[in-house]
Amino acid sequence: MFEEKEVGDLFRMQCKICQNAIQPFMNFGKMPLANGFLLPSQFQHEYFYELMPAFCDECAVFQIAYQPKPEKMFTSSYPFFSRTSQAMREHFKQFAHSAMCEYLKGREDPFIVELGSNDGILLEHFAQNKVKHLGIEPSSNTAEVAMAHGVRTLIRFFSKELANEIVSAEGHADVVLSANVVCHIANLQEVAEGLQKLLKPDGFFIFEDPYLGDMIQKTSYDQIYDEHVYIFSLQAVQNIFGRLGFKLVDAMPQPTHGGSMRYVLVKKESSVKPDARVKQYLEAEHQQKLHLVETYLAFKQNCERSRQKLVMALEAHKKYGKRVIGYAATSKSTTILNYCNIGPTLIEFICDTTPLKQGRYSPGMHIPVKPHSDFLKQYPDLAVLFAWNHQKEIFEKEKNFVKVGGKWLLPL
Ligand code: TYD
Repeated sequence: MFEEKEVGDLFRMQCKICQNAIQPFMNFGKMPLANGFLLPSQFQHEYFYELMPAFCDECAVFQIAYQPKPEKMFTSSYPFFSRTSQAMREHFKQFAHSAMCEYLKGREDPFIVELGSNDGILLEHFAQNKVKHLGIEPSSNTAEVAMAHGVRTLIRFFSKELANEIVSAEGHADVVLSANVVCHIANLQEVAEGLQKLLKPDGFFIFEDPYLGDMIQKTSYDQIYDEHVYIFSLQAVQNIFGRLGFKLVDAMPQPTHGGSMRYVLVKKESSVKPDARVKQYLEAEHQQKLHLVETYLAFKQNCERSRQKLVMALEAHKKYGKRVIGYAATSKSTTILNYCNIGPTLIEFICDTTPLKQGRYSPGMHIPVKPHSDFLKQYPDLAVLFAWNHQKEIFEKEKNFVKVGGKWLLPL
């Protein structure tokens, strides 16, 4: 089941940032790839690894002890497309607008690069405004959607070597953006060295990712899966990128993915001074005790309580003969379903709007994934909302379900 190297890695357990020895504070058990939706012919050879979060108290970085190889996760059939949500389309439009107004202002013929540009949901706004841009995206299927939206895209993983190639061919970048991608990359030294080459001396590196403070506060343990090798805090970002030649100068909370943070970094030599917000949020993190191991032990207990509650609720519905389905086959649902051992006996199917997921089965627990029309055709008694971060948009869209007596269940 495990490749030899992975078992070796499990025993090594070093912080990916400072190489300090780390101890996972929890084990979610055997996990498949969060986006590894599969066909019955693939069940027998499904890939699993051990999902074990750890907190390094030396450099304050929350991480998973072992991450599968990037080539396993970001393939030519990667099924996550950012533009499936109206709220995300609006969010990225505003992100692009704010980058253009605040960070590109006064710059002549600026050049903007995005790491992990997915289906082009962010860069298309620069393309529409005729701003020189380049997306870097390793999954060819999502990159093709971006290109169809007029976004110049390179199908590659970002690296120092690629940074050099881009600088030779196109010049230095004014701004490098990234959303829900930096937390996917274990080797941040390579990223930082690449960024040092790619960015102009007065350039900005702006990225956003799910925020540790929100995850701890909400016990949203479903943020922990193979792709999210790190869940960042300001303290962690400052420690990681500080030692790699960058300075954190601003941070802004974002509502996306159930609570995210946007970080603004500049090269160490830059004259840009940190905004007062940075100090404020760092203090708030201290108050929330994000630097203490005890916080993560309490989080573990909260996860266990959450699991018990969810399983009990679903078993009660089954006992009373109610029909239960899952709404949205998210990456996050893979952690919940496998950790709670919830399969097709408790959830009949999961409906999802992504054609690539439909007709397949959920990773690990093998619940059928069906089109959204199957939900509409015959409403269930209960729908477990796995895309709880899109609650507002989905509740609005599915008002009729509640009108006819259907009930929602939030899985956390
Ligand atoms: P998201 O929470 O972004 O997923 P992840 O946990 O993978 O980051 O939700 C995206 C998934 O939810 C995607 O598979 C499409 C599905 N979805 C629906 O099926 N219907 C909807 O109305 C929305 C907003 C998402």
